[in-house]
Amino acid sequence: MGGQLRNRRVLLGVSGGIAAYKSAELIRRLIDLGAEVRVVMTKAAQEFITPLTLQALSGFPVSTDLLDPEAEAAMGHIELARWADLIMIAPASADLISRLTLGQGDDLLTTVCLASRCPIAIAPAMNQAMWHHPATQANLVTLKERGIHQFGPDSGGQACGDVGLGRMSDPDDLAQAISSVFQTRLLEGKTVVITAGPTREAIDPVRYISNHSSGKMGYALAQAAVDAGAKTLLISGPTNLSAPDYVKRIDVISADDMYKASMNSLDECDIFIASAAVADFRPASIAEQKIKKTGQETMSVDMIKNPDIIASVAAANKRPYVVGFAAETQQVIDYARDKLIRKNLDLIIANDVSNPDIGFNSENNAVTLVTKDSETALPENSKTQLARDILEVIAAQYSRN
Ligand code: C5P
Repeated sequence: MGGQLRNRRVLLGVSGGIAAYKSAELIRRLIDLGAEVRVVMTKAAQEFITPLTLQALSGFPVSTDLLDPEAEAAMGHIELARWADLIMIAPASADLISRLTLGQGDDLLTTVCLASRCPIAIAPAMNQAMWHHPATQANLVTLKERGIHQFGPDSGGQACGDVGLGRMSDPDDLAQAISSVFQTRLLEGKTVVITAGPTREAIDPVRYISNHSSGKMGYALAQAAVDAGAKTLLISGPTNLSAPDYVKRIDVISADDMYKASMNSLDECDIFIASAAVADFRPASIAEQKIKKTGQETMSVDMIKNPDIIASVAAANKRPYVVGFAAETQQVIDYARDKLIRKNLDLIIANDVSNPDIGFNSENNAVTLVTKDSETALPENSKTQLARDILEVIAAQYSRN
């Protein structure tokens, strides 16, 4: 089994229908492909299959109630909505499709769909007459216009004895279709180089100066670049993260190492994204032996400036499309635009780090993408989802370039 869905968080919504038993199998397929799965069931779904079965298969408690304080305290509807990289509703009954179309929030599943900004997919399952009903067909047109993916239904014998369209697709086919939602192919044939994480600047053999960058944003961008079909090189400072599948990672420690690896990558680089939190300065010299504290009440370390990696990339002869980050606490867009011009970048991702809920070390982020003549605000989202949105804007701007 491959890991096409490794690190993917799939929220499986189960609505009421005889096909609900197939969602048990779907959970297994998704987990086989590496996904983490959480389940939300409607009230009607629980008439067909028990939450306990799906809890045992997914490994997590199943969420069923919008108004249960205990469940909300564990993982509330907003948290579930933010957690998901994709919401898969399988089976999606005619009633669920109708409520989704209306934008209702009358149970946990529809509310999570309303509150989430991630892709949503439905696997319709219903009697063939209900499927062909103009109301259902009109709802499906609306959902499609909203970008909701539709997988199936298949045709064949139905539980009620009818024959026709309305059978939920096979779990294997659904799992493959879910994988394909993540493969955008926007950067097919391109090479993307991404710097990520902090750098460490040695003071002596045991000490260094560094920062709190987790590398999460850069790693999420690397995943999104692979999903977009790009050959992806990740030049990473020390982090606790493992590289996404199909990403080539070069490990570096200091800003100088990162600079060299970055400049070496330019022969074959179409888009360069600098998400690393590069130390601006490094000790002028590294003490050969551990510095002793005895007899000292203060100490000072002479620092010299590190190379500006992204500015050097942007000034290179063979210049790729260059994307930087600007983490600011005030006048975010103005400062970002200044940096765009000063460093001669093509696009800058402005990040307001005055808000502790987003940015450095947190799970979520919100950014504005700034070019010389455009501004695109991407609202708060998980770093995974945001990375996908960022890559989409980068791909569009790059192709315009
Ligand atoms: O100048 P400042 O550090 O605010 O710029 C941030 C942007 O520049 C980020 O994209 C960061 O990765 C990049 N940078 C770099 N080399 C440095 C400092 C910053 O590539 N020495």
